[in-house]
Amino acid sequence: MGLLDGRVALVIGGTASDGKTSIGAAIARFLAEEGAVALPTSRNRLKVEKTVEVLHSMRPYESFPDIDLLSFDARDDQALISCCNYIEDKFGPISILVNAQGIITRYDAVATPRDQWESILSVNVLSVARSCQIVGGRMIQRRAGHIVNIASETSLRAIPYVSAYGTSKGAVRLLTAHLGCEWARYNVCVNAIAPGVIVTELNRPILEREPARLERFLQATPAQRLGTFEDLRAATIFLTTCTPYVTGITVPVDGGMSAALFAPY
Ligand SMILES: NC(=O)c1ccc[n+]([C@@H]2O[C@H](COP(=O)([O-])OP(=O)(O)OC[C@H]3O[C@@H](n4cnc5c(N)ncnc54)[C@H](OP(=O)(O)O)[C@@H]3O)[C@@H](O)[C@H]2O)c1
Repeated sequence: MGLLDGRVALVIGGTASDGKTSIGAAIARFLAEEGAVALPTSRNRLKVEKTVEVLHSMRPYESFPDIDLLSFDARDDQALISCCNYIEDKFGPISILVNAQGIITRYDAVATPRDQWESILSVNVLSVARSCQIVGGRMIQRRAGHIVNIASETSLRAIPYVSAYGTSKGAVRLLTAHLGCEWARYNVCVNAIAPGVIVTELNRPILEREPARLERFLQATPAQRLGTFEDLRAATIFLTTCTPYVTGITVPVDGGMSAALFAPY
Protein backbone atom coordinates (compact mmCIF):
# COMPACT_ATOMS: atom_id res chain seq x y z
CA MET A 1 0.00 0.00 0.00
CA GLY A 2 1.41 3.36 -1.02
CA LEU A 3 0.40 6.74 0.31
CA LEU A 4 -0.65 7.79 -3.20
CA ASP A 5 -2.44 4.64 -4.42
CA GLY A 6 -5.16 5.53 -6.92
CA ARG A 7 -3.90 9.08 -7.51
CA VAL A 8 -3.01 10.43 -10.96
CA ALA A 9 -0.14 12.93 -11.16
CA LEU A 10 0.80 15.23 -14.02
CA VAL A 11 4.44 16.31 -13.71
CA ILE A 12 5.19 19.14 -16.13
CA GLY A 13 8.94 19.37 -16.75
CA GLY A 14 9.11 15.87 -15.30
CA THR A 15 11.64 14.46 -17.77
CA ALA A 16 15.41 14.01 -18.12
CA SER A 17 17.69 12.78 -20.92
CA ASP A 18 18.45 9.61 -18.94
CA GLY A 19 14.92 9.48 -17.55
CA LYS A 20 16.17 10.15 -14.02
CA THR A 21 18.43 13.10 -13.34
CA SER A 22 16.17 16.14 -13.14
CA ILE A 23 14.11 17.42 -10.25
CA GLY A 24 10.83 16.71 -12.07
CA ALA A 25 11.87 13.17 -13.08
CA ALA A 26 12.91 12.44 -9.48
CA ILE A 27 9.59 13.78 -8.20
CA ALA A 28 7.68 11.65 -10.74
CA ARG A 29 9.60 8.65 -9.42
CA PHE A 30 8.81 9.45 -5.77
CA LEU A 31 5.12 9.77 -6.64
CA ALA A 32 5.13 6.48 -8.57
CA GLU A 33 6.93 4.73 -5.72
CA GLU A 34 4.04 5.74 -3.46
CA GLY A 35 1.53 4.25 -5.89
CA ALA A 36 0.51 7.21 -8.06
CA VAL A 37 0.22 6.98 -11.84
CA ALA A 38 2.86 9.60 -12.66
CA LEU A 39 2.84 11.15 -16.14
CA PRO A 40 5.83 13.34 -17.02
CA THR A 41 5.73 15.93 -19.80
CA SER A 42 8.20 18.23 -21.56
CA ARG A 43 9.14 19.54 -25.01
CA ASN A 44 11.70 16.91 -26.01
CA ARG A 45 10.01 13.70 -27.14
CA LEU A 46 13.10 11.56 -26.47
CA LYS A 47 13.31 12.77 -22.89
CA VAL A 48 9.61 12.06 -22.38
CA GLU A 49 9.95 8.57 -23.84
CA LYS A 50 13.03 7.75 -21.75
CA THR A 51 11.41 8.98 -18.53
CA VAL A 52 8.16 7.14 -19.18
CA GLU A 53 10.20 3.97 -19.79
CA VAL A 54 12.02 4.41 -16.47
CA LEU A 55 8.71 4.91 -14.65
CA HIS A 56 7.13 1.96 -16.48
CA SER A 57 10.02 -0.32 -15.50
CA MET A 58 9.55 0.67 -11.86
CA ARG A 59 5.80 0.55 -11.68
CA PRO A 60 4.12 -0.61 -14.91
CA TYR A 61 1.34 1.58 -16.32
CA GLU A 62 -1.89 -0.30 -17.01
CA SER A 63 -1.69 1.02 -20.55
CA PHE A 64 1.51 2.54 -21.95
CA PRO A 65 1.12 6.35 -22.22
CA ASP A 66 0.94 8.14 -25.58
CA ILE A 67 4.37 9.80 -25.77
CA ASP A 68 3.26 12.31 -28.42
CA LEU A 69 0.50 13.68 -26.21
CA LEU A 70 2.96 14.13 -23.32
CA SER A 71 5.52 15.94 -25.51
CA PHE A 72 4.71 19.65 -25.69
CA ASP A 73 5.89 23.09 -24.70
CA ALA A 74 4.35 24.01 -21.35
CA ARG A 75 3.47 27.45 -22.82
CA ASP A 76 1.05 25.81 -25.26
CA ASP A 77 -2.35 25.92 -23.55
CA GLN A 78 -4.10 23.82 -26.20
CA ALA A 79 -1.50 21.05 -25.99
CA LEU A 80 -1.82 21.04 -22.21
CA ILE A 81 -5.61 20.81 -22.40
CA SER A 82 -5.37 17.91 -24.91
CA CYS A 83 -2.86 16.19 -22.62
CA CYS A 84 -5.15 16.61 -19.59
CA ASN A 85 -8.16 15.31 -21.53
CA TYR A 86 -6.16 12.29 -22.64
CA ILE A 87 -4.83 11.56 -19.13
CA GLU A 88 -8.25 11.90 -17.50
CA ASP A 89 -9.93 9.66 -20.13
CA LYS A 90 -7.24 7.00 -19.90
CA PHE A 91 -6.04 7.08 -16.28
CA GLY A 92 -8.59 9.05 -14.25
CA PRO A 93 -8.87 12.52 -12.70
CA ILE A 94 -5.60 14.36 -12.18
CA SER A 95 -5.35 15.01 -8.45
CA ILE A 96 -1.66 16.00 -8.32
CA LEU A 97 -0.03 18.66 -10.50
CA VAL A 98 3.69 19.35 -10.25
CA ASN A 99 5.19 22.28 -12.13
CA ALA A 100 8.90 21.51 -12.48
CA GLN A 101 9.49 23.17 -15.87
CA GLY A 102 12.15 25.82 -15.78
CA ILE A 103 14.99 27.48 -17.67
CA ILE A 104 17.87 29.71 -16.57
CA THR A 105 20.51 31.90 -18.18
CA ARG A 106 23.43 33.76 -16.60
CA TYR A 107 23.86 37.45 -17.43
CA ASP A 108 24.84 40.64 -15.65
CA ALA A 109 21.54 42.31 -14.80
CA VAL A 110 22.26 45.32 -16.98
CA ALA A 111 23.06 43.13 -19.99
CA THR A 112 20.22 40.61 -19.80
CA PRO A 113 18.62 40.69 -23.26
CA ARG A 114 14.91 41.36 -23.57
CA ASP A 115 14.29 37.99 -25.25
CA GLN A 116 15.85 36.25 -22.24
CA TRP A 117 13.54 38.07 -19.85
CA GLU A 118 10.61 37.11 -22.05
CA SER A 119 11.48 33.44 -22.39
CA ILE A 120 12.34 32.99 -18.71
CA LEU A 121 9.17 34.71 -17.54
CA SER A 122 7.00 32.87 -20.04
CA VAL A 123 8.32 29.40 -19.12
CA ASN A 124 9.01 29.86 -15.40
CA VAL A 125 5.98 32.00 -14.50
CA LEU A 126 3.32 32.18 -17.19
CA SER A 127 3.27 28.46 -18.01
CA VAL A 128 3.10 27.66 -14.29
CA ALA A 129 0.21 30.07 -13.79
CA ARG A 130 -1.65 28.72 -16.84
CA SER A 131 -1.24 25.07 -15.85
CA CYS A 132 -2.48 25.93 -12.36
CA GLN A 133 -5.52 27.57 -13.93
CA ILE A 134 -6.17 24.73 -16.39
CA VAL A 135 -5.57 21.79 -14.06
CA GLY A 136 -6.53 23.65 -10.87
CA GLY A 137 -9.88 24.54 -12.45
CA ARG A 138 -10.64 20.82 -12.78
CA MET A 139 -9.52 20.22 -9.19
CA ILE A 140 -11.77 23.04 -7.97
CA GLN A 141 -14.76 21.39 -9.65
CA ARG A 142 -13.90 18.15 -7.86
CA ARG A 143 -13.10 19.94 -4.59
CA ALA A 144 -9.79 18.07 -4.25
CA GLY A 145 -6.22 18.31 -5.43
CA HIS A 146 -2.62 19.06 -4.60
CA ILE A 147 -0.47 21.40 -6.67
CA VAL A 148 3.28 21.57 -6.05
CA ASN A 149 5.27 24.26 -7.83
CA ILE A 150 9.06 24.12 -7.92
CA ALA A 151 10.33 27.50 -6.83
CA SER A 152 13.99 28.00 -5.86
CA GLU A 153 16.37 29.34 -3.29
CA THR A 154 16.25 32.45 -5.49
CA SER A 155 12.54 32.83 -4.60
CA LEU A 156 13.78 33.77 -1.15
CA ARG A 157 17.21 35.36 -1.55
CA ALA A 158 19.13 37.13 -4.32
CA ILE A 159 22.27 35.69 -5.91
CA PRO A 160 24.43 37.30 -8.60
CA TYR A 161 23.84 37.18 -12.36
CA VAL A 162 20.46 35.45 -12.53
CA SER A 163 18.13 38.39 -12.00
CA ALA A 164 15.54 37.26 -14.57
CA TYR A 165 15.51 33.73 -13.17
CA GLY A 166 15.34 34.94 -9.56
CA THR A 167 12.51 37.31 -10.41
CA SER A 168 10.63 34.47 -12.07
CA LYS A 169 11.09 32.21 -9.05
CA GLY A 170 10.02 34.95 -6.64
CA ALA A 171 6.87 35.19 -8.75
CA VAL A 172 6.32 31.43 -8.45
CA ARG A 173 6.47 31.73 -4.65
CA LEU A 174 3.90 34.53 -4.60
CA LEU A 175 1.70 32.88 -7.23
CA THR A 176 1.67 29.82 -4.97
CA ALA A 177 0.59 31.94 -1.99
CA HIS A 178 -2.14 33.72 -3.96
CA LEU A 179 -3.61 30.55 -5.45
CA GLY A 180 -3.30 28.68 -2.17
CA CYS A 181 -5.35 31.36 -0.41
CA GLU A 182 -7.91 31.71 -3.20
CA TRP A 183 -8.47 27.97 -3.57
CA ALA A 184 -8.30 26.91 0.10
CA ARG A 185 -12.09 26.96 0.31
CA TYR A 186 -12.22 24.35 -2.49
CA ASN A 187 -9.82 21.90 -0.78
CA VAL A 188 -7.20 22.49 -3.46
CA CYS A 189 -3.77 22.87 -1.85
CA VAL A 190 -1.20 24.95 -3.68
CA ASN A 191 2.30 24.81 -2.24
CA ALA A 192 5.87 25.05 -3.45
CA ILE A 193 9.28 23.57 -2.78
CA ALA A 194 12.35 25.81 -2.92
CA PRO A 195 15.32 23.53 -3.56
CA GLY A 196 18.90 24.55 -2.92
CA VAL A 197 21.51 23.63 -5.52
CA ILE A 198 21.17 20.18 -7.11
CA VAL A 199 23.39 19.59 -10.14
CA THR A 200 21.23 18.93 -13.23
CA GLU A 201 21.16 19.72 -16.95
CA LEU A 202 19.78 23.14 -15.96
CA ASN A 203 22.72 24.47 -13.97
CA ARG A 204 25.64 22.19 -14.91
CA PRO A 205 26.87 24.47 -17.75
CA ILE A 206 26.92 27.52 -15.43
CA LEU A 207 28.55 25.67 -12.55
CA GLU A 208 31.18 24.00 -14.77
CA ARG A 209 32.13 27.32 -16.35
CA GLU A 210 32.40 28.94 -12.94
CA PRO A 211 33.59 26.51 -10.24
CA ALA A 212 34.00 29.42 -7.77
CA ARG A 213 30.22 29.82 -7.89
CA LEU A 214 29.75 26.26 -6.72
CA GLU A 215 32.22 26.87 -3.90
CA ARG A 216 30.26 29.95 -2.79
CA PHE A 217 27.04 27.92 -2.70
CA LEU A 218 28.73 25.31 -0.55
CA GLN A 219 30.06 27.96 1.81
CA ALA A 220 26.59 29.48 2.12
CA THR A 221 24.98 26.13 3.00
CA PRO A 222 25.05 25.19 6.69
CA ALA A 223 24.72 21.49 5.75
CA GLN A 224 28.02 21.93 3.82
CA ARG A 225 26.94 19.90 0.83
CA LEU A 226 24.91 20.22 -2.35
CA GLY A 227 21.35 18.96 -2.48
CA THR A 228 20.37 15.55 -3.83
CA PHE A 229 17.12 14.44 -5.44
CA GLU A 230 16.51 12.25 -2.40
CA ASP A 231 16.41 15.38 -0.23
CA LEU A 232 13.18 16.33 -2.06
CA ARG A 233 11.33 13.08 -1.39
CA ALA A 234 9.80 13.90 2.00
CA ALA A 235 8.68 17.40 0.98
CA THR A 236 7.11 15.95 -2.18
CA ILE A 237 5.15 13.33 -0.29
CA PHE A 238 4.13 15.79 2.42
CA LEU A 239 2.83 18.36 -0.07
CA THR A 240 0.90 15.76 -2.09
CA THR A 241 -0.75 14.11 0.92
CA CYS A 242 -1.27 17.07 3.28
CA THR A 243 -4.60 18.19 4.65
CA PRO A 244 -6.11 21.14 2.76
CA TYR A 245 -5.23 23.21 5.82
CA VAL A 246 -1.63 23.28 4.54
CA THR A 247 -1.64 25.71 1.65
CA GLY A 248 0.12 28.70 0.13
CA ILE A 249 3.52 27.85 1.57
CA THR A 250 6.97 27.43 0.07
CA VAL A 251 9.10 24.80 1.79
CA PRO A 252 12.84 25.38 1.48
CA VAL A 253 14.88 22.19 1.02
CA ASP A 254 18.26 23.87 0.96
CA GLY A 255 20.52 22.63 3.74
CA GLY A 256 19.66 25.69 5.80
CA MET A 257 20.83 28.22 3.20
CA SER A 258 17.75 30.42 3.40
CA ALA A 259 17.69 30.31 7.20
CA ALA A 260 21.30 31.30 7.77
CA LEU A 261 22.29 34.89 8.40
CA PHE A 262 25.98 33.97 8.49
CA ALA A 263 27.79 31.28 6.57
CA PRO A 264 29.88 29.24 6.77
CA TYR A 265 28.69 28.11 10.17
N1 LIG B 1 18.79 22.20 -10.14
C1 LIG B 1 18.71 23.10 -9.19
O1 LIG B 1 19.67 23.35 -8.45
C2 LIG B 1 17.43 23.85 -8.95
C3 LIG B 1 17.34 24.61 -7.79
C4 LIG B 1 16.17 25.30 -7.54
C5 LIG B 1 15.11 25.20 -8.42
N2 LIG B 1 15.21 24.45 -9.55
C6 LIG B 1 14.05 24.37 -10.40
O2 LIG B 1 13.67 23.03 -10.52
C7 LIG B 1 12.99 22.83 -11.76
C8 LIG B 1 13.64 21.66 -12.48
O3 LIG B 1 14.97 22.01 -12.78
P1 LIG B 1 16.13 20.95 -13.04
O4 LIG B 1 17.32 21.46 -12.31
O5 LIG B 1 15.63 19.59 -12.82
O6 LIG B 1 16.39 21.26 -14.58
P2 LIG B 1 16.36 20.32 -15.88
O7 LIG B 1 17.07 19.06 -15.62
O8 LIG B 1 16.83 21.21 -16.98
O9 LIG B 1 14.80 20.02 -16.04
C9 LIG B 1 13.91 20.97 -16.53
C10 LIG B 1 12.70 20.28 -17.08
O10 LIG B 1 11.83 21.28 -17.61
C11 LIG B 1 11.52 20.94 -18.97
N3 LIG B 1 11.24 22.18 -19.69
C12 LIG B 1 12.04 23.24 -19.88
N4 LIG B 1 11.41 24.18 -20.61
C13 LIG B 1 10.18 23.67 -20.89
C14 LIG B 1 9.07 24.15 -21.62
N5 LIG B 1 9.07 25.33 -22.26
N6 LIG B 1 7.97 23.37 -21.71
C15 LIG B 1 7.94 22.15 -21.10
N7 LIG B 1 8.96 21.65 -20.39
C16 LIG B 1 10.06 22.41 -20.29
C17 LIG B 1 12.74 20.16 -19.46
O11 LIG B 1 12.50 19.29 -20.55
P3 LIG B 1 12.58 19.72 -22.11
O12 LIG B 1 13.94 20.28 -22.33
O13 LIG B 1 12.32 18.45 -22.84
O14 LIG B 1 11.49 20.70 -22.34
C18 LIG B 1 13.01 19.32 -18.21
O15 LIG B 1 12.10 18.25 -18.15
C19 LIG B 1 13.10 24.14 -12.51
O16 LIG B 1 11.91 24.87 -12.33
C20 LIG B 1 14.25 24.84 -11.83
O17 LIG B 1 14.14 26.23 -11.94
C21 LIG B 1 16.36 23.77 -9.83
